[in-house]
Amino acid sequence: MAFTAASAAAARADFPALARHMNGTPLAWFDAPGGTQVPQAVIDAVSRVYRDCNVNLGGLFDTSREAGEVVAAARAAAADFLGAASPAQISFGANMTTLNFALARALGRRLQVGDEIIVTALDHEANRGPWLSLAERGAVILEARLKSDGTLDLDHLASLVGPRTAIIAAGIASNALGTVTPFAPIRELAQAYDALTIVDAVHHAAHLPLDFEALGCDFLLCSAYKFYGPHVGVLCSRAGLLDTLEPDRLSVQHQAAPHRIETGTPNFAALAGVTAAIDYLAAFGAGADRRERVLDAMQSLADYEHGLAVQYATGLDALPDLMRHGPPLDTWPRAPTVSFARARGVAPLAAALGAQGFQVWHGHFYARRVVESLGLADQGGLLRVGFALYNTPQEVDRLLDALRTVIADGL
Ligand SMILES: Cc1ncc(COP(=O)(O)O)c(C=O)c1O
Repeated sequence: MAFTAASAAAARADFPALARHMNGTPLAWFDAPGGTQVPQAVIDAVSRVYRDCNVNLGGLFDTSREAGEVVAAARAAAADFLGAASPAQISFGANMTTLNFALARALGRRLQVGDEIIVTALDHEANRGPWLSLAERGAVILEARLKSDGTLDLDHLASLVGPRTAIIAAGIASNALGTVTPFAPIRELAQAYDALTIVDAVHHAAHLPLDFEALGCDFLLCSAYKFYGPHVGVLCSRAGLLDTLEPDRLSVQHQAAPHRIETGTPNFAALAGVTAAIDYLAAFGAGADRRERVLDAMQSLADYEHGLAVQYATGLDALPDLMRHGPPLDTWPRAPTVSFARARGVAPLAAALGAQGFQVWHGHFYARRVVESLGLADQGGLLRVGFALYNTPQEVDRLLDALRTVIADGL
């Protein structure tokens, strides 16, 4: 099913936050890579838990069983969303970063001194920091370079892989540049040396279809607040793998996957929201089951959001002194995230836009090494615009007009 500007205009009514105004003008939410707004269906699902059933798991009473069903439903929904063969491969945590630290601690326990971990300069710190921390345990950390066109230098990565490689941690879509990194070459390199692969799919999951089993990684992480849900981190593990690890956990908790890496009481309300967000997305697609509908929906949304990114980038290219970074817009696949820098810095532009209700991010967005590698740290990094299903071509025109005016005013 095609998702069009008319679909986006209609979907906007589902998101209460989009009704917010500033000085009589609707806020323009171009901050999707930092987090999306949530539809009413998600808000309802979250509040239903607090209203009806805010109890813990394992009791011999109905509401406790209902809490168990909320968790099970969220695992099933996330498995459909990510293309995992079984809901038992899905674990939840506070957010992606926290889950990735838990995973790193668990994997760190089986590393030998001198084992090598490869991270990338294109990644968000959330898929670097947890692995860098294993240097304390004697791991050797190697970093694959970023090319000036905003893509990962896969040849350089290949040159780093060898018999001591234990882990390759790589993102498949950049939250700073929109670059999509093909995973197959990384998987092949890892498999050649029996290394484990950790995929950051936070930015990818929000914008493009995902197929965990086809990807063939060992662990994949994402975060529901980037795809219209609440703040919950999701870890998808290759079947059986989590059971071989020693994560931090209590002796009294469930020891088997997917619980093995989940500590404490789950956020039931947020998990209900995860299911609702995935069901919300799936409703934009066609198919015999939720997995098919999710795939169809994500493909249509990707096409739509890409069109907005092209429109915006084309407009940007007519403005003076801006340097767009990241892969060209005719690259596919590509995430709908467009960033530029300029010698005079981008913060004044971000502030001027923010004062007019345009929500755009600037800086490094925790993709610190991207900004450093591109030599933009002294200029204050990038100004980033990201698109979600509720953005419209009219909003993009408004943003370009506003940029044109503030630049013409000498900012
Ligand atoms: C690409 C990417 N990876 C990881 C993260 C971290 O996710 P979380 O906030 O759930 O820890 C983010 C958040 O911005 C991100 O954009």
